[in-house]
Amino acid sequence: MEFFVRFILVLLNIVAIIIEPIVVWLNGEEKKKIPAAKNPLINLSANEVIYRIRHGELKSEEIVKVYIDRIKEVNPYLNAVIEDRYEEAIKDAKRADNMMEIVAPEQRAPLFSRYPLLGLPFTVKESCALKGMSQVVGNIHRKDYRANDNGKSIELLRAAGAIPLLVSGNPEFCMSWETSTHLFGKVKNPYDTRRTPGGSSGGEGALNGAGASLFGVGSDIAGSIRIPALYNGIFGHKPTGHLMSIKGHFPNSIDPNMGRYLQVGPMTRFAQDLPILTAVMAGDEAAKMDLTTRVVTKDIKIFYMDSNGFTLTHKPVDFDIRLAIMKAVAYFKKSGCQTEKADIRNMSNAIEISMSTLLTLKDVPSILVDPKGDPVSILNLSVSFYQNQPIKKSYIASFDWLESEIDLI
Ligand SMILES: *[C@@H]1O[C@H](CO)[C@@H](O)[C@H](O)[C@H]1NC(C)=O
Ligand SMILES: *[C@@H]1O[C@H](CO)[C@@H](O)[C@H](O)[C@H]1NC(C)=O
Ligand SMILES: *[C@@H]1O[C@H](CO)[C@@H](O)[C@H](O)[C@H]1NC(C)=O
Repeated sequence: MEFFVRFILVLLNIVAIIIEPIVVWLNGEEKKKIPAAKNPLINLSANEVIYRIRHGELKSEEIVKVYIDRIKEVNPYLNAVIEDRYEEAIKDAKRADNMMEIVAPEQRAPLFSRYPLLGLPFTVKESCALKGMSQVVGNIHRKDYRANDNGKSIELLRAAGAIPLLVSGNPEFCMSWETSTHLFGKVKNPYDTRRTPGGSSGGEGALNGAGASLFGVGSDIAGSIRIPALYNGIFGHKPTGHLMSIKGHFPNSIDPNMGRYLQVGPMTRFAQDLPILTAVMAGDEAAKMDLTTRVVTKDIKIFYMDSNGFTLTHKPVDFDIRLAIMKAVAYFKKSGCQTEKADIRNMSNAIEISMSTLLTLKDVPSILVDPKGDPVSILNLSVSFYQNQPIKKSYIASFDWLESEIDLI
């Protein structure tokens, strides 16, 4: 246990108890429900869309337009879109449809082995880099910054024939479990617009949860795919470290360990689509996975926790969440898995363990350091949130002091 970190957490909890009611009162928005989707094509998984396009039952242009319409319908409620490329996407779709027209029926199989996701629309978290599109990632210094190139996984999806529609919201430097920035405002949860979609892939969480994306690309270092997936009722997969290239992602680092922790991954309403999306996004590394062998559920042992007890630093787990965990455990049990309640005592040190790991990564861009590498004053930092002024060089050092406090492992 690290005393200093615990002390800060207790302090934060006390501050939260005091200011939470005020914030809730100030934010007093009414709950809005997004309109239900009307077009039944919205309910098709990526695999089903591939099947229909391949068999000439659906045109790429049609499915691309269905999603563009759906995004336009829900985005006023969600504020999830940072920048779109709808016109270019429709042109891409027409190209995909032309390709289908010029190949003879017997050439469709080779066409789809070459372009397994031909004509499929998708959406991209802004931090993952879509060439020519905004990659500000909520940071005032990066205002109007555009990605020079596609992130590696985006490049692979494009090469497989998929069509990006937009880049979606993320918090500053992807460093939050909410998605709210000074530059782009708050992204909202489609189930209850007063609530957060989670973060940092919050824009993808909200769009996919609202049925406004066939699938999305998110990124995750400490829950950034998994938390929005949970909050928006979708499936998100953070792959094993180093499976996906994180080239092009912002923030990134030259530290070779970065890819162990930061991963790009798919987010979708359809669990059945995760294997093909993961395989395409992993590129050559996909050979390391065994996605076709049937999983024998009775050989799987599931360890679970539904609570970490109550301490001054950790809030108790909400009853609804515990109930959901129990439902999942019951489901696994019914499917023949072995389940066992685990007593992972080290979980009480989870914050220290994860922070000490992340803080040892070298050269990670930080909210506390300006692009020239100079430290940013804490006071100038807070002022910038209100005045949108460029953050300038000042005297308070970076987070080195915190790093030296953490010598737990
Ligand atoms: C999509 O499927 C759900 C669940 O079966 C259904 O309730 C909904 O009406 C469908 N939506 C459309 C637009 O067909
Ligand atoms: C984790 O738990 C084990 C068993 O309780 C203990 O021996 C070990 O020191 C703990 N490690 C950390 C980092 O807390
Ligand atoms: C903020 O930065 C400016 C410019 O470097 C400096 O003059 C000012 O003192 C700083 N303010 C604080 C509170 O550090």
